[in-house]
Amino acid sequence: MASTSLPGGTWPLGDLTVTRFGYGAMQLAGPWVMGPPADHDGALAVLRAAVDLGITHIDTADAYGPRVTNQLIREALHPYHQDLHIVTKVGATRDAQGGWPPARDPRSLRRAVHDNLEVLGLETLDVVNLRLGDAEGPQPEPVAEAFGTLVDLQRDGLIRHLGVSNATPGQVAEARSIAPIVCVQNMYNLAHRHDDTLIDELAADGIAYVPFFPLGGFSPLQSSALSAVAARLETTPMSAALAWLLQRSPNILLIPGTSKVAHLRENVAGAALRLAPDDVAELDEIGR
Ligand SMILES: NC(=O)c1ccc[n+]([C@@H]2O[C@H](COP(=O)([O-])OP(=O)(O)OC[C@H]3O[C@@H](n4cnc5c(N)ncnc54)[C@H](OP(=O)(O)O)[C@@H]3O)[C@@H](O)[C@H]2O)c1
Repeated sequence: MASTSLPGGTWPLGDLTVTRFGYGAMQLAGPWVMGPPADHDGALAVLRAAVDLGITHIDTADAYGPRVTNQLIREALHPYHQDLHIVTKVGATRDAQGGWPPARDPRSLRRAVHDNLEVLGLETLDVVNLRLGDAEGPQPEPVAEAFGTLVDLQRDGLIRHLGVSNATPGQVAEARSIAPIVCVQNMYNLAHRHDDTLIDELAADGIAYVPFFPLGGFSPLQSSALSAVAARLETTPMSAALAWLLQRSPNILLIPGTSKVAHLRENVAGAALRLAPDDVAELDEIGR
């Protein structure tokens, strides 16, 4: 693993240290996150390039493909470097139409944890997020039974640390009343700022906030203000968006997705951009 210092430095997930610049593997599966990638070798190359760049945090889920991204991670990177930490999620499955129906009954959760262990080739999962809500976003639902099932699996030694995803602040609080969490993974980017208060509260408590769709996901971020700031700084809108996230709060970890090595390198280089207070103020206006 390279010793390159990545933009943003590192952050502790419990007793594990990860680079704040991580990699989200979802885009490696086929269209709409179903089936294998069109370019199998290209997908392996992206994963290997991420590790070569020094990235020690890869985000995945057995629902991606399903199983496809986990299979690719194992093929590309197993046996894993001791510094590499794979964060996975359970709580949703896939249907024949590519939907993401919930699967949060104890039996489904246990099966998903064992499935992640088997496909990734691990004896313990470093971090497991309980993925709540649905494709529309967080939904009001109690978390005690599902989160309690993961706590049991943690006590059995199958999971090192827990997190929640696609969760309301109330669900984060409910989970934290049951057991410690090391991260919250919710949708957040320059244009979607609904978790601003939550991010600051988690930062005060040393808990990571991991935005999914940091670049807009399936609808890439588009904003004339973002383009104007990027042009002034002679960079790309994606770079400015990632640099803004890194500067937004020290507990924000990046997991931008890409299926291309060139984009991965561009994102790592771009996130190192130092935004001046005026640039930040201008970008802040986008989500207001
Ligand atoms: N917890 C959850 O419910 C949940 C939901 C969604 C995602 N996630 C996680 O969050 C991670 C990030 O989300 P995401 O990958 O969906 O969205 P994202 O990171 O916001 O955006 C990824 C998209 O941006 C494009 N892109 C990346 N770098 C680029 C560049 N330099 N120039 C132009 N286009 C670029 C990618 O296309 P190319 O492939 O062409 O580069 C891809 O289409 C996922 O990988 C997954 O691990 C979690």
